[in-house]
This record gives sequence, structure tokens and C-alpha cells, in this order.
Amino acid sequence: MAKAEELRTYIIKGGEEGRSRLALISRVLAPATQALLDRFEPLNGMLALDVGCGGGDVSFELAARVGSNGRVVGFDLDEEKLAAAREEACNRGLANVAFHQASVLDPWPVSGAALVYIRFVLTHLARPEDVLARARAALAPGGVLIVEDIDYAGQFCDPPCPAVDRYRELFVATLKARGGDPFIGRRLVRLVESAGFAGVDSCLAQPFGRSRDVKQTTSLTMAAIAEAIATSGIATAEEVDHVTREIKAFADRSDTTISLPRIFQAWGRMT
Ligand SMILES: C[S@@+](CC[C@H](N)C(=O)[O-])C[C@H]1O[C@@H](n2cnc3c(N)ncnc32)[C@H](O)[C@@H]1O
Repeated sequence: MAKAEELRTYIIKGGEEGRSRLALISRVLAPATQALLDRFEPLNGMLALDVGCGGGDVSFELAARVGSNGRVVGFDLDEEKLAAAREEACNRGLANVAFHQASVLDPWPVSGAALVYIRFVLTHLARPEDVLARARAALAPGGVLIVEDIDYAGQFCDPPCPAVDRYRELFVATLKARGGDPFIGRRLVRLVESAGFAGVDSCLAQPFGRSRDVKQTTSLTMAAIAEAIATSGIATAEEVDHVTREIKAFADRSDTTISLPRIFQAWGRMT
């Protein structure tokens, strides 16, 4: 599939807007992702791949961990996000991280890695197994695969809000219509094990609360999937506008809480 065509099957709006949404999600998830990466320290001197890296938030975290004698390569289809990631790497003075435009479905730009990290990418793909097979091919013996992905069944809010419930239905239906799996999180252990990794294990993270950042992730994601919902014909543009406004109003109230979806973290080693 051509890259532009592949990017069109991705349901979340990319580019600059997509990059700032990802930056927000990365801030919210930083404690959980850092705790996950801590399990695999020391990473100093290693070659790490951030697969479907978006704006490179985790690539930067990995770059700090592998240090100046290690190297991080992030790759993604979205050239706009990659350009922002390169600029940010430059501003941060990071010489050990590089970003390439490549599809996770094509042969990967680098092999011999000690660590392959994949967050929120497999959920969008009809055949996540193909990406895990590529991960195996890219890893050196003893290398570790780390995956984080969503399970939308677990997303909730308080007090009850019909717009948040409708958002969840729309996200699930739109992702399924494009061939993705909005509940992939619970399958990760099985997928990683079936791909031939050893010592497979997992844990669960779920940011939840009243903070503006946590609550904003839902309204921003709703806005970011609006176009995909409308083109899939799953809801009218009027309903999408209405739900987007209602979620924003709900999130802006001081007495409301919203969660992210459940996020499964899974890992395994190359034998
Ligand atoms: C939800 S974002 C996650 C980005 C990043 N992993 C993070 O957690 O911040 C998913 C990313 O996958 C990228 N993507 C989707 N399909 C892809 C493909 N076939 N090849 C490479 N990247 C892809 C999108 O452009 C997007 O940046």
C-alpha cells in the first residue's frame, strides 16, 4: 500500500494537531511508561527502536536512557510529526536520536536492536502479527520487545455522561470499520507469545482523574477522529459536533472525572 493511502486508513488526525494531542497523552502517561521502561534498565549504550513513534515523545525518553553511546531510531508514516520530532531533538541537543519516514508494515530501517518499543500502533492494524514478526527480525538475540496498547472496554467517567459513552461507541466503531481492534490490549500477551517471544509478561495502567490534561485527552481524541467518523458514515457531522461540544463542557466542569482507556503493557525477549 502507498504511504499516503496507509496514512488515510489511520483514524486519528495527524500533522501538527495530531502531534500536540500525542504530546498531551505522553505527559499523562509519562509515569506509567517510565515505570515500564525502568524494568529493562540498564539501557545505556543500547540501540532502541520506537516503532510508529509519532512526535517522538518516547524516543526522547529512550534517548536519555541509552545515553550518548547508545542510539534511538524512531519511525512513522507521518512526515509532519517526524519533522516536529527532529526539530525537538535538535532543540533538546539530542545527537543520539534519528527519525525516519517508514511504514511499520514494510521492512524496517534498522536491525540488530536491543529494544523495540511500540505504543498505540498495533490497535490500528488489521494484522498486528505482521508487525511483531518484523520486530523479531529487527531485534538482536536477547533483545526485548515492549508494547503498550489500549482496551476501550475499560474507559469510564463520573458522573455518567451520555456524550462520553457515545464517544466510546464512535471510537470503537470507527476503528473497527478501518480494520483495527479497539480492545487489543487484553490480547497483547497472547500476540507477543505467539510471535515467538519468551518470558512474556504484562501489567496494566489507567490514568484517571480530574486534572485538565487527563480529561482533555478524551475531548481532543474525539475532535481528532471526527473526520474519520464522518467519512465512515458512522454518525452525522452534526452528531459529531454535538458530542464533541458536550464532552468538552463535561471535561471543563470541576466536579467531573474521566479515564483514559485501559492501557496494557506487555513485553517479551528474543531467545
Ligand atoms: C496513536 S499514535 C502513537 C504515537 C507514539 N507511539 C506515541 O505513543 O506517542 C500512532 C502512530 O502510528 C503511526 N502509524 C499508523 N500507521 C502506521 C504505519 N503503517 N506505519 C508507521 N506508522 C504508522 C501514526 O502516524 C501515529 O503517529
